[in-house]
Amino acid sequence: MNILITGGAGFIGSHVVRLFVNKYPQYKIINVDKLTYAGNLANLRDIESAPNYKFVRADICDFDTIYSLFQTEQIDGVIHLAAESHVDRSIKDPFTFARTNVMGTLSVLQAAKLYWESLPEGFEGKRFYHISTDEVYGALELTNPEGVKPPFTTKASSGEHHLAYGTDFFYETTKYNPHSPYSASKASSDHFVRAFHDTYGMPTIVTNCSNNYGPYQFPEKLIPLFINNIRHRKPLPVYGKGENVRDWLYVEDHARAIDLIFHQGKVAETYNIGGFNEWKNIDIVRVLILTVDRLLSRAEGEDLDLITYVTDRAGHDMRYAIDSTKLQRELGWEPSLQFEQGIEKTVRWYLDNQEWLDNVTSGDYQLYYEKMYANR
Ligand code: NAD
Ligand code: TYD
Repeated sequence: MNILITGGAGFIGSHVVRLFVNKYPQYKIINVDKLTYAGNLANLRDIESAPNYKFVRADICDFDTIYSLFQTEQIDGVIHLAAESHVDRSIKDPFTFARTNVMGTLSVLQAAKLYWESLPEGFEGKRFYHISTDEVYGALELTNPEGVKPPFTTKASSGEHHLAYGTDFFYETTKYNPHSPYSASKASSDHFVRAFHDTYGMPTIVTNCSNNYGPYQFPEKLIPLFINNIRHRKPLPVYGKGENVRDWLYVEDHARAIDLIFHQGKVAETYNIGGFNEWKNIDIVRVLILTVDRLLSRAEGEDLDLITYVTDRAGHDMRYAIDSTKLQRELGWEPSLQFEQGIEKTVRWYLDNQEWLDNVTSGDYQLYYEKMYANR
């Protein structure tokens, strides 16, 4: 198979590209990425010269380029991750989100459709897999602020923390109700993907995943931002009261789910992906402080006073909690790591890769790409 992975230089995309390049030497993996501020080829250094890997710098909104890529590379499958992904940016600049997430997705869909329809076999053996988020479902209420044991058991949830902060969850059947420009743009792209199945018979799959964490996440998102700030003893801007709940999944567990679903998921289906791992932001911040302090041999809790409560995010969704039992039941997927293990690995990675962090926070890496591609 020749597989087009969009957004492969970003956080989740780089883990997906790495997994596919290493696991499937018989496939050709074409990573198409615009290299926005969030895209970074340093995320893929270890596999960049693999014989089954190719990088193409392109904007997914550029239909002509994407269409000709389908033709020249004879693409059989798409794993579509390219997107603008940060809620705070979407509040300041919603147009960029509509452009990339909606029009960009439509451009990749249309290119796939036209190319596949031109082949004798048509859609046979083809697959368009769209990666989406649980944020399209809106927000759940925080009905149990102290946390209760949820009615689920998974391997990763057998840790001590495992609590739910409400009685309801997001199911595959939950009605879409996005609140932020980011989630509205993702919801719109999901609808287009499903419309391409329903209208043209395109073999599509959509998954909606909870918050990811792990190596190579751009340090504007909660976990890498706060690890970096704790290390440098900078204030930790906790929005509102820090009571908001997110359901966290280690990024490699998401990549494993994507691999499984790409190969074995049923066409036209939706799968929720999540770790049954709800945490209040403030509790995560405390865990991060204790972990960083311990790994840097600082006194326990020395940095707790870095916590700084700031004005809440506009329209801040209170609680996300994904029910991923369908994926577990039908395809046997479950998260491999407990949160405490995943956080330990993640904090260690950021502390060991200060150079990567310095690079992406300085902005030098963007200038480097601009120069590198200026004459192409
Ligand atoms: P990211 O912001 O780290 O990476 C996005 C990548 O897309 C970057 O490499 C960027 O250069 C590229 N890109 C952006 N605009 C582009 C364009 N116009 N053309 C080509 N490439 C472009 O995002 P991420 O966190 O890795 O998320 C990847 C996908 O997974 C997104 O679709 C996101 O909505 C979804 N998702 C993310 C999470 C999460 O917690 N991070 C959870 C669920 C779903
Ligand atoms: P984020 O990592 O931006 O992911 P998302 O908004 O997609 O869930 O934020 C995770 C949670 O952390 C969210 O409730 C907002 C909160 N947050 C802060 O309190 N302070 C911060 O500086 C950031 C970036 C996020």
